[in-house]
Amino acid sequence: MSYETIVVEQRGAVTLVTLNRPQALNALNSQVLADLIHAFAAYDADPDQRCLVLTGSEKAFAAGADIKEMEAQGFAEMYGSNFFAGWEKVTATRKPWIAAVAGFALGGGCEVAMMADFIIAADTAKFGQPEIKLGVAPGMGGSQRLTRAIGKAKAMEMCLTGRMMGAEEAERAGLVARIVPAADLVAEALKTAEQIAGMAPLAAIANKEMVNAAFETGLAQGILFERRLFHGLFGTEDQKEGMNAFVGKRQAEWKGK
Ligand code: HXC
Repeated sequence: MSYETIVVEQRGAVTLVTLNRPQALNALNSQVLADLIHAFAAYDADPDQRCLVLTGSEKAFAAGADIKEMEAQGFAEMYGSNFFAGWEKVTATRKPWIAAVAGFALGGGCEVAMMADFIIAADTAKFGQPEIKLGVAPGMGGSQRLTRAIGKAKAMEMCLTGRMMGAEEAERAGLVARIVPAADLVAEALKTAEQIAGMAPLAAIANKEMVNAAFETGLAQGILFERRLFHGLFGTEDQKEGMNAFVGKRQAEWKGK
C-alpha cells in the first residue's frame, strides 16, 4: 500500500512508518491523519506484525499540526468536523508502538509522540507545545499527556511560554524512555521494536493495557484490573509455552493464543 504523506515498510515483524512531508517539516494535516489511521489499523489487524515504529526526518519528527490548513478555519468548522478527533483512532491501536523522535517535535508533533507507548529520542530531539504563540493551545492531548508525563510545573511552564525542551531535559523529566545518538535512532528503535515483537503477542497487549490503566483509574481499581488480566493470561497457550520453555531451558515459541 502506498500513501501520500507517509512511507510504510515491513521489517520482519516490525512495521516502520516514516512521516514524509519534508517541505513542511512533517506538519500534520488531515491527509497525514487519514494515512496514519489507515496504516495503524492495517498494522493492528496483521497478525504477523508485532510492533510498530513511527518516525520522522533528521530535522523534524513533526513541527506541529499544519498551521496553513488551520489558519482560515472558524469555530463552527472546527467544532462541526470535530477537527482531529480522528487521532483517537490512532491511540486505539491495541498492539505496541514506539515513537522515534529526532529534531522538532512541536505542538501536534509532540502530542503524537506522546500518543506512543513510549518515546525513544535522538540527542537532537526538541519537544515543545508552542501553540500559545499562535494564539491557541494544544488540541491533540498535549495539555493532558504532557502533564501526566512530566508533572504540572514543567508542563505548565512549557505550555505558557512555548519553550522547547531538549532531549536530556526530556529524559530527566520522564518524557522519553531513552536517548540515543541521532545517527542510530531508527536502528535503535527498530532493535527495541524487534525485542517487543519477540514477546508473546497477547501478553504484549495485556502489558500495554495494564500500564495505560494507571492513567485512567485509581490505584485499587488499577491493581484489580492488573490482577484480572494477569489471571486471564493463564487461559492462553502462550502462558503454558512460556513457563514450560523456561523450566525446560529452551526458547519459547509463541502461538499468539
Ligand atoms: C505548516 C509548517 C509548520 C507547521 C513548519 N512549516 N512548521 N507548515 N504547519 N506547523 C513549514 C514552514 O512554513 C516552511 O515552509 C517549512 O515548513 C520549513 O519551516 P521553516 O520555518 O522555514 O524552518 P526553520 O526556520 O528551520 O524553523 C523550524 C521551526 C518552525 C522552528 C520548527 O518551522 C516553526 O516554528 N514551526 C511551527 C511550529 C509550531 O508552532 N507548531 C505548533 C503548530 S499548532 P515554507 O513553504 O514557508 O518554506 C499545533 C496545534 C495542535 O500543533 C492541535 C491541533 C488540533
